[in-house]
Amino acid sequence: MSVKKSTIPVSFPVRRMDYEFDNMPKYWCDNEPSLTHYFTGMSTLFPEGESYFVRSVRALRDQVKANASLDRDIGAFIGQEAMHSKEHHAFHVSAERHGLDPQSLERITGNVLKLIERVFPKKWNLLVTVGLEHYTAVLVCTMMENTHELMQDETIRNLWLWHSIEETEHKAVAYDMYQYLYGSGPMAYLPRVILYTLSLFLITLLSNYCLVVLMKRDKQLFNVKSWWRFTKFAVKHYVKFTPKFLSYYRFDFHPNDVDESALVAETKARIGLDAATAASAS
Ligand SMILES: [Fe+2]
Ligand SMILES: [Fe+2]
Repeated sequence: MSVKKSTIPVSFPVRRMDYEFDNMPKYWCDNEPSLTHYFTGMSTLFPEGESYFVRSVRALRDQVKANASLDRDIGAFIGQEAMHSKEHHAFHVSAERHGLDPQSLERITGNVLKLIERVFPKKWNLLVTVGLEHYTAVLVCTMMENTHELMQDETIRNLWLWHSIEETEHKAVAYDMYQYLYGSGPMAYLPRVILYTLSLFLITLLSNYCLVVLMKRDKQLFNVKSWWRFTKFAVKHYVKFTPKFLSYYRFDFHPNDVDESALVAETKARIGLDAATAASAS
């Protein structure tokens, strides 16, 4: 990717990726319909969801230009999220051959978010992004720790791990932008937590809706064994997620309170991303 020369260094790189999803097995996660469809459903939220994040940040970017460092990070945030949208969409196009039409779910998410974008003021749209960036930052740690081990297909595993690494790299950008624009006092805190609560409700609703639709299309809606497997997986992880989700309600919360740098370094080595980064920086 070509980047304008500047004396202000960007905090993290934008990596150009181009995964080939041609030989993906139908049940690429734990050889299970429910887990595969849960992650496919989650993936269908990304192309339109991350485009919405980009638009919400762009809508206020003009007001941040005086802070050159933050402006550069916003540019890199946009670059990373645009690449995530592109690669997850490519996965869905490839997955069409299993007949489950994941692209139709992308469109549903897109319609919901376009409605929200029209109704909400720019500040609230930015806050949906800020809140969901925290939600994502919590989820990706588990992905890097052990969830990726359930994904027997190397390409899809690498997609999720690359995406996870970059979510940790840019997790504070939208938050810092919000603080820069609106401060960190009680009048900034209140809308922050209200919009977060709404965003958690929205993403839980959408991701579960996508899971049920995909299970139904795959004629697995009454596969009790697979649902039981998913329930055990979800309970085990949401017990760990809940206090991390709740940390966002702290008045002095900041995304960088959590340091996952060792886990990220280990994950980069696992998928060979260090070498790719060094090559793109040279
Ligand atoms: Fe992303
Ligand atoms: Fe993100």
